[in-house]
Amino acid sequence: MTLSELLPSLGASLPATPDPRLWPAALSDEVLVRIAATFGTPTYVLSEDDVRAQCRRFRAALPGVEVAYASKALTCRAVLRWVREEGLSLDVCSAGELAVARAAGFPAERVLFHGNAKTPEDFKAIRSCGVGRVVVDSPDELDHLTDQRVLLRVTPDVAADTHPALATGVSGQKFGMDEADLASAVRRLAGRPDLAFAGLHCHIGSQVRHVATFERAARRMVEVVARCPLPVAELDLGGGFGVPYTPEEPDFDLTGYADRITRALHYECARHRVRPPRVVVEPGRAIVARAGVTVYRVTSVKHSFVAVDGGMSDNARPALYQARYAPRLLRRGGRTRRVTVVGRHCEAGDVLARDVPLPGDVHPGDLLAVPVTGAYHHSLASNYNQVGRPALVGVRDGATSLLVRAEAEDDLLRRDVG
Ligand SMILES: Cc1ncc(COP(=O)(O)O)c(C=O)c1O
Repeated sequence: MTLSELLPSLGASLPATPDPRLWPAALSDEVLVRIAATFGTPTYVLSEDDVRAQCRRFRAALPGVEVAYASKALTCRAVLRWVREEGLSLDVCSAGELAVARAAGFPAERVLFHGNAKTPEDFKAIRSCGVGRVVVDSPDELDHLTDQRVLLRVTPDVAADTHPALATGVSGQKFGMDEADLASAVRRLAGRPDLAFAGLHCHIGSQVRHVATFERAARRMVEVVARCPLPVAELDLGGGFGVPYTPEEPDFDLTGYADRITRALHYECARHRVRPPRVVVEPGRAIVARAGVTVYRVTSVKHSFVAVDGGMSDNARPALYQARYAPRLLRRGGRTRRVTVVGRHCEAGDVLARDVPLPGDVHPGDLLAVPVTGAYHHSLASNYNQVGRPALVGVRDGATSLLVRAEAEDDLLRRDVG
């Protein structure tokens, strides 16, 4: 029983306790208030301990499985350094992400290079860096590769339980190869002794909540392995592990995933009489999402709209996927009322959190924090309305350090050379 439950009159003044499933312990109100005072708002804050703990959780839950962090979730030197130190491999999907990986000292042999539309610059970077594996998305890509180990990306045609924009394993979307394309790629590989076939890849989508969906994809992939005329040494099952964004959403059952995927692969490989391939997984969101909190300052309150000094330029997810969040005011309690937190941008759809409880006397100057913003926030940020992208600040053992500085007007003007 909490103190406010014991003494209901106190409930009106005590700050709401952060849900420990959504907030890293290291990012207390005191730490976040101090960061806002030092670095301004909005600012992305990231708990290094939490990122490292998630890396360890994946490695412990999946012994013998190669865990590659999908850097698109959050790419910066510091994060890639932590991930490297925790022994993970890395998934990149552009020459730019590869450049950051190299700057972070990531060994090339631990890098997998993805992408459905690799550019000439991407192929150049692949060749000059000599990445460990290239995940090939269409047969024609093979013409641009030399002396590479390759995985072929398959569309398993498994519908993921997620937002349609995040479902990447069904037919009729742009990623991966169907059976005909796969057969064509395998034929071409047969005539390319410089390319080493490592195995097959699939990624059914992102923010997938149910283990059963991953299990269906794993079983389906073993059927593809069994039909493949080349020996499949590696099976990359992709990422997509869901995370809770609000207190109502359950945690993803990683232990259940490990158990059911291991059993399913053993059973299906025995049934199809194929040697069990080495397994790779590629979590992005699950490594960094919970580690991040974004701190904003309230700029105005109008009826039920609470406006803050950021918005869709630092968090595109509500506009893209109707994502939901559970924001809190820092160091503030009080009776709540339901409000809609909106951003500063010139779009009526610039909404950060719809119909959420905040203290009824919320006012300009309050600090508002949005948890679970470590993944696909910094990496999806834009300069809409010529607003500079926020700083990214790391927290370790109570100490803060600037990881990526905020963009200033000078940064925006530097590119505008006309
Ligand atoms: C090929 C591939 N692997 C891994 C991921 C990471 O997904 P998540 O961040 O949902 O784990 C993605 C995300 O788009 C992806 O495209």
